[in-house]
Amino acid sequence: MNIVIIGAGYVGLVSGACFSEFGFNVMCVDHNDNRIEDLNMGKIPIYEPGLDKLVEKNVLAKRLKFSVKLPENFRNIDAVFIAVGTPSILGKRKVELSYVFDAVKDIAKNINVDDNPILIVTKSTVPVGTSRKIEEVIQDFRPDLKPVKNFNIASNPEFLREGSAIEDFMRPDRVICGTESDSARTILQELYRPLNLRETPIIFTSIETAELIKYASNSFLATKITFINEIADICEKIGADVQQVAKGIGLDKRIGLKYLHPGPGFGGSCFPKDTRALVEIGKQIKTRIRIVESVILSNEERKLNMVKKIQKSVGDLSKKNIAILGITFKPNTDDMRDSPSLVIVPELVRLCNNVKIYDPVGMENARKMEQFKNVSWCTDTFACIRGTDAMVIITEWNEFRALDLNKVKSVLKNPLVIDLRNIYREEQMKSAGIRYISIGRGKIES
Ligand SMILES: NC(=O)c1ccc[n+]([C@@H]2O[C@H](COP(=O)([O-])OP(=O)(O)OC[C@H]3O[C@@H](n4cnc5c(N)ncnc54)[C@H](O)[C@@H]3O)[C@@H](O)[C@H]2O)c1
Repeated sequence: MNIVIIGAGYVGLVSGACFSEFGFNVMCVDHNDNRIEDLNMGKIPIYEPGLDKLVEKNVLAKRLKFSVKLPENFRNIDAVFIAVGTPSILGKRKVELSYVFDAVKDIAKNINVDDNPILIVTKSTVPVGTSRKIEEVIQDFRPDLKPVKNFNIASNPEFLREGSAIEDFMRPDRVICGTESDSARTILQELYRPLNLRETPIIFTSIETAELIKYASNSFLATKITFINEIADICEKIGADVQQVAKGIGLDKRIGLKYLHPGPGFGGSCFPKDTRALVEIGKQIKTRIRIVESVILSNEERKLNMVKKIQKSVGDLSKKNIAILGITFKPNTDDMRDSPSLVIVPELVRLCNNVKIYDPVGMENARKMEQFKNVSWCTDTFACIRGTDAMVIITEWNEFRALDLNKVKSVLKNPLVIDLRNIYREEQMKSAGIRYISIGRGKIES
């Protein structure tokens, strides 16, 4: 099979590399010529473990190609996937769909009326109704094209997580395909057939159902995170241990252990924008989704509460130097979109004498961002924490998990560790002579 993927970002590039690994011929198209130039020279524009090797292997096998332009016709193409960004419109809950519709118009331009219908699959996360709108956009742009005769539409939302994207794509819990066309169904079944070996459920739904599943799924996970964060707040007031609470509730199979890790609030390119979008989808149809509205508010407040927590632990920050370990929204990605650090760091910069930062891969992207303009960048953990009044862990990168605590103590000016990811235990820190503050583990005096 031959497919085209528009958008060579976290989703498009990973999907393209994985589909080509399944044995299909894939062309990834991106309008960012620097990105395509890099890819054609073997340089991977994003950090995602294992992606470089997978891309290299499939490029060598001539199954994976990159281009700034769509093929001139789709005669030999079975499906065109849209995997472009759908960020929130700045300061609003609404989703920016212009990238999707631009991609759709590019596709429409190259559809030949005499060819078999081309399948257009939306992989981007788009509000309910967008795939139908795609049909309208095509017909407005090319009135000579007819649905079914010249093109079919499907929604195939992506659930991969940055940091484990290849594994998630190759071994997903399920694949969701929304379509009403039999030929689209046959093509999608064929494309995901390699997953049959693991008996991955492939669920066919209506287009609207598929679109909603993606938002409902992300909003549910964001709710779970926010729930345990609020339980952690209770733990700090009553002297309970949130890790044990999480285990105690999570072992109930109806609840499950995943996404019950307390922290500084959820971030990243999906949960914040997708929760906002679900609330907006509800608003458009006069159906409030109060749970998700509260989740958004709670999560916003949480990031600032983390600054208050640091302030309370360190005291007057005005003459203090703070070391931050990790700024990406989670480990194993360089994605800085909506990371909690984007709120925590500027607030600390405003309050402290100096904020020093080290992140294994996030610094290149962060350096370009306004929120980080007055920080001191460091080349490793110990250079970062040396001489500071507190070491704050925001992201749980593996390299922060087993630090030599005696060395940590010896280089810190003030032996205080504030661990916003609960990767250490109180006893370990105590025996190294370090004061340790974590999330929801034991009473914190207010
Ligand atoms: N990042 C994730 O973890 C993740 C997971 C699941 C779903 N999603 C969804 O997948 C979609 C893509 O997300 P992403 O993180 O890969 O975005 P991204 O910003 O990393 O990549 C998008 C790419 O699309 C390109 N692009 C934009 N408009 C284009 C056009 N008209 N023609 C050609 N190229 C174009 C951009 O240059 C960019 O390289 C979003 O809707 C997102 O919500 C993301």
